[in-house]
Amino acid sequence: AVQDALSAIAGATSLDDLKTVRTAHQGDRSPLALANREIGALPPTAKAEAGKRVGQARGRVGGALKQRQAELESERDERILVEEAVDVTMLPGRRPLGRRHPIELMGERIADIMVGLGWEVAEGPEVEAEWFTFDALNFDADHPARQMQDTFYVDPPENGLVLRTHTSPVQARSMLERGAPLYIACIGRVFRTDELDATHMPAFHQIEGLAVDEGLTMADLKGTLDRLATELFGEGIVTRLRPSYFPFTEPSAEMDLRCFVCGGTDPDCRACSGTGWIEWGGCGMVNQNVLRACDVDPEKYTGFAFGMGVDRALMFRTGQSDMREMIEGDVRFNAQFGMEI
Ligand code: PHE
Repeated sequence: AVQDALSAIAGATSLDDLKTVRTAHQGDRSPLALANREIGALPPTAKAEAGKRVGQARGRVGGALKQRQAELESERDERILVEEAVDVTMLPGRRPLGRRHPIELMGERIADIMVGLGWEVAEGPEVEAEWFTFDALNFDADHPARQMQDTFYVDPPENGLVLRTHTSPVQARSMLERGAPLYIACIGRVFRTDELDATHMPAFHQIEGLAVDEGLTMADLKGTLDRLATELFGEGIVTRLRPSYFPFTEPSAEMDLRCFVCGGTDPDCRACSGTGWIEWGGCGMVNQNVLRACDVDPEKYTGFAFGMGVDRALMFRTGQSDMREMIEGDVRFNAQFGMEI
């Protein structure tokens, strides 16, 4: 019985095993416990001898159990140390950070410049009343810009809601809300039914400027736009005003920037189609009909306004040649610009 017990103890490979072995060889029903109980029934002469032998046997088994228990416990402790070790020098898995879109950054930069000139930032809704988008701005009822081919109408069209095709409705809103004198800039998204290509997007961004005050002239308009262009594109930037037409300005002009790729020297330049100039946006002196529609006295005040392309400005500033990348939503596109434009 002792040999059986000792080899079972040696063969126990885990603390659970050893528990089973202990019950079998040291428990109440183990052979040694039975032997111990039988001693009482022996004749007195044999009792002492038997008691000694069983006692020794129990002692050896007890000692072996204790020793094996200690061995298995220390093995377990070592294993836990290895398995549950924490490497405090290991780098944590990092979740990639999102990046702000360069158009957003560009818009903020432009807003900062305008605020620096003492202008206020204004806003208006992207889903806009046809009245603010066209009527208040002196568009004829049958002006082509109102056509379904250019303008996204919100169903049902009888409700007179459109996705604003330009930020100019904010001119009308601001004059009606704030009155003259007034210097506001609005940066926002606009929508036209243009096909998507390298230089056109059905949704793009404009910076609208409107100044209404006593004695403002075309020179103030040019000075403001030149200042904005210089802040955005650097000292060397060359601009020009080219006569144009908008229902809400008179006279009207288009501002062009000297081509940032060829500087006007390459007749085959792809950026400017060889013209040497890149269109930046429209501008002009606020039409008196618009002032009147917006409760501003045209005898007392004059105003100038402009609407320039923010996406164009970003292309210009960063040398991007394809606008489509700007709306693909790929964070790698954003990341290449860092946190500032
Ligand atoms: N709203 C015009 C456009 O989208 C630009 C513009 C704004 C022109 C202000 C004149 C004055 O093309």
